[in-house]
Parts: sequence; structure tokens; C-alpha cells
Amino acid sequence: MTEKTNRKKLLEVKNLRVSFGEHKHKTVVVNDVSFDIYKGETFGLVGESGSGKTTIGRAVIRINPTMSGEIIYDGKKINGTISKELDREVTQKIQMIFQDPMASLNERAKVDYIVSEGLYNTKQKYTKEEKKSMVEKALQDVGLLPEFASRFPHEFSGGQRQRIGIARALIMQPEFIIADEPISALDVSIRAQVLNLLSDLQKKRDLTYLFVAHDLSVMRFIADRIAVIHKGVLVELGETEKLYNHPLHPYTQALLSAIPMPDPVAEKKKVLKVYDPSVHDYSVHKPSWVEVEENHFVLCNEAELQKYKKQIE
Ligand SMILES: Nc1ncnc2c1ncn2[C@@H]1O[C@H](COP(=O)(O)OP(=O)(O)OP(=O)(O)O)[C@@H](O)[C@H]1O
Ligand SMILES: [Mg+2]
Repeated sequence: MTEKTNRKKLLEVKNLRVSFGEHKHKTVVVNDVSFDIYKGETFGLVGESGSGKTTIGRAVIRINPTMSGEIIYDGKKINGTISKELDREVTQKIQMIFQDPMASLNERAKVDYIVSEGLYNTKQKYTKEEKKSMVEKALQDVGLLPEFASRFPHEFSGGQRQRIGIARALIMQPEFIIADEPISALDVSIRAQVLNLLSDLQKKRDLTYLFVAHDLSVMRFIADRIAVIHKGVLVELGETEKLYNHPLHPYTQALLSAIPMPDPVAEKKKVLKVYDPSVHDYSVHKPSWVEVEENHFVLCNEAELQKYKKQIE
């Protein structure tokens, strides 16, 4: 858990806003989001479909332009206009594993090209032979055979394709990986394998993860800390066990109640909590992002803060 983090901030996201559309038709889909990720940790980002999780990941890897706020990687601001040198560095050090392994791989390219594509833009240039052996090594590192390099993506199962996506990230020797729902599209039977692979790689290579998911079910096993996002706004952030045992925000509570229980009798009796934003009276006192206790943040106003503080006692 937290002892594996040496508390060096690797990624700092400060008051991030991301919008789509032009002028009057602008929609803000990520609104004033702030969080830090420490080196070596797995930081979970959870929220329902459309809440802005992928948009945040894509802003970090500089695909989505940011409207305001700062994204700082290893002490350097990486959003907006940056030097070519830094852009190259970020492109190598931060990799993303995409949500849908069926859609994210170029169907017309062979695996060796797909896996080695990122190497074409690195400062260091590699020969054909070097690339070939790097691809083979990357495939082996994710549990695939080196001879798969000459095949096309459609020849693989969903789990294997996700491994190809992971190899594509690993070949770049990244420090930080954004895993965007890497197992959601996979059969339940192979989800654990891919999760174990990610966890082994993290240990071997001292990787830091931003792990995105739309529910809390797998998060407990992998995340050190979790941030909960609702409609583009963070509502709660805390250490995993804290969040599971003492969720404060009603939306976090609703997400937790949606996790299936292993005991079928308990599962049948369970009351699903539905989040109703009208429980907050924000007409007079607006909410803000407050550290309710050490390392535990909640979006709340003064009245809610007092209530939460009593719950914690
Ligand atoms: N390129 C885009 N142009 C316009 N709107 C977009 C674009 N990308 C995302 N959006 C919108 O931004 C919002 C957040 O989308 P995003 O993909 O970040 O959600 P998500 O949390 O990753 O959801 P999911 O769990 O379904 O992947 C959605 O309303 C989506 O329609
Ligand atoms: Mg998404």
C-alpha cells in the first residue's frame, strides 16, 4: 500500500478544465479537477460513463487541449505550449493503455509495427534489427510469443490484444502509465490475468499507474488511493481502505453499494443506493474541495463538512 510510495509527486493536476466545442457551444466536461499522483503508486479514477475519465487521461498525454489549469509532470508543466524537447520526453515517459482493445489497434498493421510505432518519434534512433528485438522482448514481457510479431490484430483474442496494447506502451520504457479501463472489455475469466500482469510489471519496473474504471469493484485490489469523479467534478479522494470503509460523499456511497457481494443471500437483500444530487443544498453555500481529514478530500459545503467531521470521529 502506501509504504511503496516514497511520496514524491510525479504528476500534479491543478484546477484542470477541459472543454469541447467552440464559443457558444462549448461544453466543459472536466471542471476544476485537482489531484496528485505519487511515484510508484496506483491511483484509481472512478466514475460512471461520460464523467470525464478518458478526457483527463488524454489531457495528460497531450491529446486533449486544456482550457485552464496545470498539468505538471516531474516538476515540469506539460500542458499548453511546451518545448519540442519536453514534448518528446513526455511522449516517451507517459504511456496510455486504451479502453477497448478491439478498437484501439490499427487493424491493417502487423503487430510488429503496432508495438514499435512509438519508437519512430524518440530522440534515439533504432535500426531495424534493434526494433525487431525490442518488439520480441516487449511481446515476451507481456506473455506473448515473439513470432506473433508478424500477425495482424484480428488473429488475437481480446485478452491477447490488450497484451499487445500493453507491449506497445512498455516498449517505450515509460515511467507513468494511464490504464484506461484496461479490463472492462475483457471476459471475466481473463481480467485477473491482465490485472496480475499490470501489477507484476509495476513491481519489476517501478511504474506509476493512473488506473481508470467505471466502478469500484476491482479498485480495492489494485489502487493505493482513489478519486471519485461525477460529471467532470471530483467528489471524493482518499486512501483505498478509507474510501471503502468510510465513504463520505453520497455518490461514493452509491458506487460502493453497486459492487456485487460474494454472498448470494446478502446480495439479494442488498439495497442499491442511488445517488440523488438534490440531497445537496448548494443554493446558498457553494461546495468546495476540502481536506476533511489527512489525505481524505471531499467536495462539500460548510454544513456538510460539519456532518462529515462528526461521522469520522
Ligand atoms: N472529442 C470529443 N468531442 C466532444 N465531446 C467529447 C469528446 N470526447 C469526450 N467528449 C464528451 O466528454 C464527456 C466525457 O467523456 P469521457 O470519454 O472522458 O468519459 P469517460 O468517463 O471516459 O466515460 P466512459 O466510462 O464511457 O469511457 C462525455 O460527455 C463525452 O461525450
Ligand atoms: Mg472512458
